[in-house]
Amino acid sequence: MHPAVKNGSYDVARVREDFPILSMQVYGKPLVYLDNAASAQKPKAVLDRLHEAYTSEYGNVHRGLHYLANTATEAYEGAREKVRAFLNAERAEEIVFTRNATEAINLVAYTFGRERIEEGDEIVLSIMEHHSNIVPWHFLRERHGAVIKWAPVDDEGNFLLDEFEKLLSPRTKMVAITHMSNMLGTVVPIKEVVRLAHARDIPVLVDGAQGAVHLDVDVRDLDCDFYVFTGHKLYGPTGIGALYGKYAHLAAMRPFNGGGEMIREVFQDRVTYGDPPHKFEAGTPAIVQAIGFGAAIDYVNSIGKARMRAHEQSLARYAHERLREINSLRIFGNAEDKGAIVSFEIKGAHPHDVATIIDRAGVAVRAGTHCVMPLLARFGVTATCRASFALYNTQAEVDSLAQALNKAQDFFA
Ligand SMILES: Cc1ncc(COP(=O)(O)O)c(C=O)c1O
Repeated sequence: MHPAVKNGSYDVARVREDFPILSMQVYGKPLVYLDNAASAQKPKAVLDRLHEAYTSEYGNVHRGLHYLANTATEAYEGAREKVRAFLNAERAEEIVFTRNATEAINLVAYTFGRERIEEGDEIVLSIMEHHSNIVPWHFLRERHGAVIKWAPVDDEGNFLLDEFEKLLSPRTKMVAITHMSNMLGTVVPIKEVVRLAHARDIPVLVDGAQGAVHLDVDVRDLDCDFYVFTGHKLYGPTGIGALYGKYAHLAAMRPFNGGGEMIREVFQDRVTYGDPPHKFEAGTPAIVQAIGFGAAIDYVNSIGKARMRAHEQSLARYAHERLREINSLRIFGNAEDKGAIVSFEIKGAHPHDVATIIDRAGVAVRAGTHCVMPLLARFGVTATCRASFALYNTQAEVDSLAQALNKAQDFFA
């Protein structure tokens, strides 16, 4: 257990000591990093693990017979086991390392989706999806005549389960849906979604890029067919993500990329493939990044997701209160079940301008489309600002955000 959470307390100052970058200044002001939904900062435990892997455990994995090849393979496969436990998957073979969540979704769309979906077949997404969980399905629409249907949200951003159910038809071949919206923060009742889809034999892919960071994930309890997430949002390195797939699916799916590591035998006139997960990990994988990903999971476990969530949720509640005091500010998303993300606009100001102004006060938020253009269109805007909270943020940082926004508001008044 991490010393910051001993005896039931949550010592955020102690947590912050783990993140070297947080003590930096920008434009002479203390950094207030509230762009965590885009990518989170890295604790020393992860940075040290990366260093150690390169300096004393490094070699290529799986194919070597020497000491370093073996230590690297052990550490890489050890990271797979950590991901398995993190998701409570049944077998480590159900975990495929990918570059990120995006690549994991593409893998499923190109293999599983492509094999099942014919002209006129339907794919149900939610209107909240990130472009990563839209564009691969658009490929199937463009190239194979699939039809995309969109599950709606209400004006508060609540996911409408009844409306979702109405979209399921005998032509529905796939449901692909986010666990938690990266713009509204809405948490989708995934277990119910899976239950409704499975009652009609429809497989479900869950985009856990945000959900895996903030919510408890038990893929056996959710019973989803696929769950994807990404290391860099979970305090891990860039360049590494994971796909969970039920073993029967992975075993039946054709390979995605071809090359070394994924084959059993190659002849002049034919080729046979390895078993999952290696069948989907062609070429030299992101060995050290996977090891760092495992260290990030250890770090999160040492604090505990429930404690992280309680801390982040209290910051988000406080941020809502403070931001509502700003007259010209509109918040997007007030769902009953909502994670620690606050999207907003200041009336009459472009979100890029707002973000640029508050950046000068050291406050980092994201502004733009957040890769959710259909969702922005649903709310009648082309961009928003977004503050997103992590385990190391503080109430004082929320105050800095509110103060900087008040100043920005005056600028546009
Ligand atoms: C909900 C959601 N899905 C998918 C992604 C894509 O993640 P990555 O860029 O790591 O593949 C993101 C990243 O912002 C996201 O928020």
